[in-house]
Amino acid sequence: QTRVLTGITTTGTPHLGNYVGAIRPAIAASRRPEVDAFFFMADYHALIKSDDPARIERSRLEIAATWLAAGLDPAKVTFYRQSDIPEIPELTWFLTCVTAKGLLNRAHAYKAAVDKNAEIGEDPDAGVTAGLYMYPVLMAADILAFNAQQVPVGRDQIQHIEMARDIAQRFNHIYGREFFALPEVVIEEQVATLPGLDGRKMSKSYDNTVPLFAGGAKHLREAILRIVTDSRLPGEPKDPDSASLFTLFRAFATEAESSAFRRALEEGIGWGEAKQVLFERIEADVAPMREHYEKLIAHPAAIEEILQEGARKARAVAGPKIAELRDAIGLRAMS
Ligand code: TYM
Repeated sequence: QTRVLTGITTTGTPHLGNYVGAIRPAIAASRRPEVDAFFFMADYHALIKSDDPARIERSRLEIAATWLAAGLDPAKVTFYRQSDIPEIPELTWFLTCVTAKGLLNRAHAYKAAVDKNAEIGEDPDAGVTAGLYMYPVLMAADILAFNAQQVPVGRDQIQHIEMARDIAQRFNHIYGREFFALPEVVIEEQVATLPGLDGRKMSKSYDNTVPLFAGGAKHLREAILRIVTDSRLPGEPKDPDSASLFTLFRAFATEAESSAFRRALEEGIGWGEAKQVLFERIEADVAPMREHYEKLIAHPAAIEEILQEGARKARAVAGPKIAELRDAIGLRAMS
């Protein structure tokens, strides 16, 4: 059995990048018979980015409904909320105490914040919380509490998984045993980084996302119409490889569909028409899931029940792990 684990931070509405980078590959993996899947809502991570309780709660509901609408089977997958698993913050502390501060200094998110401050002549750590700094350790605990072997994510998370490996190795070395498997990152090369409306990585922090379900087909179409293109006119050949529109199309299409679309662009299809083709391609995949999503989100109590059951299953794995670790590192062993 291979344990596959991934999570999504509950700070916004799920977008196409979350879907093709994490949700879709994770659900495909969960259907393989040899896979034991753990998928969760990272609401402890959300506290690093948001102090708006209503937003975190709403996002959690939307993300849970999205996983289920995308085909997650809660009977087969352990599906839970990070904050229902007290073993995770406990393990975070154990890992914190073996993690080199220098490792965390190199984390992209922290470095980006510090570099930005330096650029504008501010104190480097202005506005940087210890939570942001500790982000990679919390994420390592998410993974290591369950001894996950594979972590399907988008390219932006690779560094975090590498840090989780480093931290696991360090812990194993210090305490002299293979307590943790070393997690491997699983990236779908085609869609490793899905571009957003402006061509940069699709990201909540850039405000350039195309929501997966929110706002319905109308909103999806409007968002797609706002994708930035060059100024080539209908009839002029377009370069598919520099068009984010084509990258988005490829993330949803078969090889044959992609070749046909590539040809159409090279032969000069207008951007307006190309956007319509892209909209129809994505909508064909999204529409049936959206219908399911609308039904799910209308029944938060049913989702809550699924998450509670998931928490029970998750704690049955993380609990004994933490007990083993407590014993090994010299704390009072708990059963
Ligand atoms: P988050 O919430 O930012 O994103 C969730 C998942 O979506 C992927 N993703 C993308 N993939 C391709 N193209 C994009 N434009 C794009 N935008 C987002 C992300 O790579 C991610 O896989 N720290 C994590 C959540 C987390 C986690 C974990 C993940 C917490 N603990 C343990 C794996 C294992 C995060 O904030 O992802």
